[in-house]
Amino acid sequence: MATTTTIEDVPSVELMTELLRRAKCSSKPDKRIILVGPPGSGKGTQSPLIKDEYCLCHLATGDMLRAAVAAKTPLGIKAKEAMDKGELVSDDLVVGIIDEAMKKPSCQKGFILDGFPRTVVQAQKLDEMLAKQGAKVDKVLNFAIDDAILEERITGRLIHPSSGRSYHTKFAPPKTPGVDDVSGEPLIQRKDDTSEVLKSRLEAFHIQTEPVIDYYSKNGLVANLHAEKPPKEVTAEVQKALS
Ligand code: AP5
Repeated sequence: MATTTTIEDVPSVELMTELLRRAKCSSKPDKRIILVGPPGSGKGTQSPLIKDEYCLCHLATGDMLRAAVAAKTPLGIKAKEAMDKGELVSDDLVVGIIDEAMKKPSCQKGFILDGFPRTVVQAQKLDEMLAKQGAKVDKVLNFAIDDAILEERITGRLIHPSSGRSYHTKFAPPKTPGVDDVSGEPLIQRKDDTSEVLKSRLEAFHIQTEPVIDYYSKNGLVANLHAEKPPKEVTAEVQKALS
């Protein structure tokens, strides 16, 4: 027989933490933020900090697609080939997953879109989806950085697959090499984090995604960040852009 969890079953520390979070979040304004930048520019590194500060949900299409590939869902099977080659998956697939994900209760105060929209068609579809809710994009953070810096960042990155925690062998090393700080589980390298696949990913960025920055610039929504700076300095620029 299925058991029902009641409020008495939740440890009081967890309850207090959730109540404090809700009290803090109730005073925060709604925000809809887009992060645009090439692979390795720091979008995933800055996202958790913005998410916590503004009580937003973090929707990373790359993470969602990798989870679908790992679970061998119909979506994952369709996306795998393009992802392995460093190409973009079709607009229809990603628009569908974002449309669904934005309805989650955790997105009530708004969202951070990390890796979406990546084409002008995706940006137009997003505007249409938001218009139906009477909402619009508030800010686009452009993680501007020279391509030459990205190879070292990408090839040195290590991931803890189940949590999404990200490390770097040189810039953000784990306490024990190759092991997640929190769970003690092994870290892995993403299949597309090679110098070879990076070339295709950068090509896709310059040809298909840079026009997205122009699309939002016309509405004055873009804040340009110096993404080559150390992480804390980038965080300070993010906070300034969102204040
Ligand atoms: P996705 O997972 O979105 O990859 P990406 O955009 O290429 O971005 P990354 O996750 O590689 O980089 P990041 O900017 O988050 O860098 P991070 O913070 O980790 O997409 C993967 C694939 O999915 C695509 O190729 C495509 O096939 C498909 N896809 C996804 N979305 C799609 C869409 N909308 N449409 C179609 N297809 C889609 O940083 C990198 C490393 O550098 C880390 O190790 C970090 O520790 C380090 N680092 C970060 N910041 C700094 C700093 N300031 N200084 C020094 N080191 C730093």
